[in-house]
Amino acid sequence: MAAIKEKVNETVSAHGGSLVNCEVTGVEREKLLLEAENFNSITINAWSISDLELIGIGGFSPLTGFLGKEDYLEVLDNLHLKDGNVWSIPINLAVSESEADSLLIGESIALYGEDGILYGTLNLQEKYTYDKQNEAASVYGTTDQAHPGVKKLYEKGNVYLAGPISLVNRPKHDQFKDFHLDPTETRQLFQELGWKTVVGFQTRNPVHRAHEYIQKCALETVDGLLLNPLVGETKSDDIPADIRMESYQTILKHYYPKDRTRLVIYPAAMRYAGPREAILHAIVRQNYGCTHFIVGRDHAGVGDYYGTYEAQELISEYQNELDIHIFKFEHAFYCNKCENMASQKTCPHDKSEHVHLSGTKVREKLRNGESLPRQFSRPEVAEVLIKGLQRGSKQ
Ligand code: ADX
Repeated sequence: MAAIKEKVNETVSAHGGSLVNCEVTGVEREKLLLEAENFNSITINAWSISDLELIGIGGFSPLTGFLGKEDYLEVLDNLHLKDGNVWSIPINLAVSESEADSLLIGESIALYGEDGILYGTLNLQEKYTYDKQNEAASVYGTTDQAHPGVKKLYEKGNVYLAGPISLVNRPKHDQFKDFHLDPTETRQLFQELGWKTVVGFQTRNPVHRAHEYIQKCALETVDGLLLNPLVGETKSDDIPADIRMESYQTILKHYYPKDRTRLVIYPAAMRYAGPREAILHAIVRQNYGCTHFIVGRDHAGVGDYYGTYEAQELISEYQNELDIHIFKFEHAFYCNKCENMASQKTCPHDKSEHVHLSGTKVREKLRNGESLPRQFSRPEVAEVLIKGLQRGSKQ
């Protein structure tokens, strides 16, 4: 299916030049729905559905489908697509060898979710085996199975299917429907709001004081903040997206200027690929129409796999190839002596004056119903998180 390309916002171009749209609608969709009844079909998991959606709505522009082998290897080895665009994380659809054997090059394949819904179709151009250890080492910088991204990779089928896709049905995101905009819509929204400069913020966590500090530092110099939390698959001990979404609304209501902030979901799965994922995150926000993107301490990191500023260092190498400007922030903390949020760049005091809490400790406290220090988290946020975790996720 040919990708319909359009340029909506003149301020920032989509990655690769034009926003991709692989979603079929109206009569074309009705026709494809009928045809797909006779296609060979496979069942894809939630992770692949989110990739399919992001390709379909242009979040992953310039991708129009799952990567072929040449692109895949170019991404692993050189962080580029073969058309020359920078790209850091391979977007692939994996199946088992027996499934792959039953599919023919050139045919269209129906992609069903585990819920029986037809989400899209794939025009199969290539199927190829791949080296999981090599992918792990390139993308995650480790082959350690304890890394959540590597673990997922090792669990996948051994064959990648490649080719252009059509998005037929979007995943529902019913519980977040007020916060669900695609890149065309966020670009439109920024224009309506008169925001010429917009900083995008990625997070898979609740917004704590350090997040708020770096967002507001950025907001001092741009027109608007797009709080763009990732709500796709995350590791099991991360705080579920529905509880986080409640906490974002709470902090925005109490502490942010209404006319300068918007909350929109980023429906992707979390890779925990640190530096390489920071580049993907920036590209996606460029596609959503942001002019700036924040990369702070250990962006998209997990455990001790990446250095504190490794993501900033890697993305800096590619800044010239991106149309989004990266705001880099030092590790921020509350300083008891400054009586303020600060970083090493702005605070002269000893480390013992700085309030630090690890993510693991925070989650442990919240799950035990203990509130967090005010210097670490807004009390309204901690309250929502404690209640949410006690009640349990609705996801
Ligand atoms: S993640 O998606 O990058 O894994 P996380 O919530 O941990 O989510 O971080 C969101 C953004 O805030 C990232 O750019 C991260 O680097 C930055 N960040 C998180 N905590 C701090 C901190 N204490 N100081 C500076 N930047 C931070």
